[in-house]
Amino acid sequence: MRLRSTEAGWGALVRAFHWLIAALILAQGIIGLTMVQMGLTPAKVRVFALHKSIGVTILALVLLRIAWRLSERRPADPPAMPRWQRRAARAVHGSLYALILAIPLSGWWFNSASNAPLVWFGLFDIPGLTRGYAPFWKPRALLLHQTLFWVLVALLALHVGAALWHHFGQRDDVLRRMMIGPRGQTGEGP
Ligand code: HEM
Ligand code: HEM
Repeated sequence: MRLRSTEAGWGALVRAFHWLIAALILAQGIIGLTMVQMGLTPAKVRVFALHKSIGVTILALVLLRIAWRLSERRPADPPAMPRWQRRAARAVHGSLYALILAIPLSGWWFNSASNAPLVWFGLFDIPGLTRGYAPFWKPRALLLHQTLFWVLVALLALHVGAALWHHFGQRDDVLRRMMIGPRGQTGEGP
């Protein structure tokens, strides 16, 4: 499989970024929703630290993914796809990119406004985004973090629904060309 995308399909790096980030966001959502229900124990502190470290990792991966994506052209859409669907897909994809950037940023903002530590997997300190404790911004940043997460969940329902509809309804290659492994289309072209 080629590293770069072609007219016929996504390159290996786009696919790797897509599924790695999707898996991390799924884990991150589950950890986030679970940890806020925990009683105040040392385990809670450790799970919060893990959530924050994974979140910062996602942010870095998303920045690399966007930089790479801007250097490539996307594969051609299926020829029978109506214009409104192409536009809807572009709008959803653009919003997904904006959300997977804004969610970790808002988490980092909330953490900074709370004046809580941020140590990447116990290895090094990451500075805050505010000048120490910011009681005005703290609840606003948290509300943003929570709201954007649920907006992402709603958009993902649309996104995954559309992918499955392409695969099982339209029977085109849209899902296959994003897959990795034997079921994936190579994207090498004819
Ligand atoms: C894509 C990345 C992320 C996702 C999907 C995510 C998701 C979530 C979710 C679902 C919650 C639970 C919200 C609730 O129901 O109250 C949460 C809470 C939290 N997140 Fe994230 N998060 C991400 C990144 C980050 C980052 C980078 C940080 C900080 C550096 C962070 C810090 C926090 C904190 C401190 C809470 C607890 C809020 C509280 O005390 O109520 N998150 N996150
Ligand atoms: C957290 C989960 C996910 C996120 C954030 C996400 C995000 C994205 C984004 C931003 C794109 C646009 C790619 C680009 O133009 O650069 C994309 C494409 C795609 N995604 Fe996802 N995705 C997720 C999960 C899934 C799942 C679970 C499926 C399948 C069931 C899926 C199927 C696809 C397909 C088939 C494409 C290619 C669409 C095309 O060729 O136009 N995604 N995804």
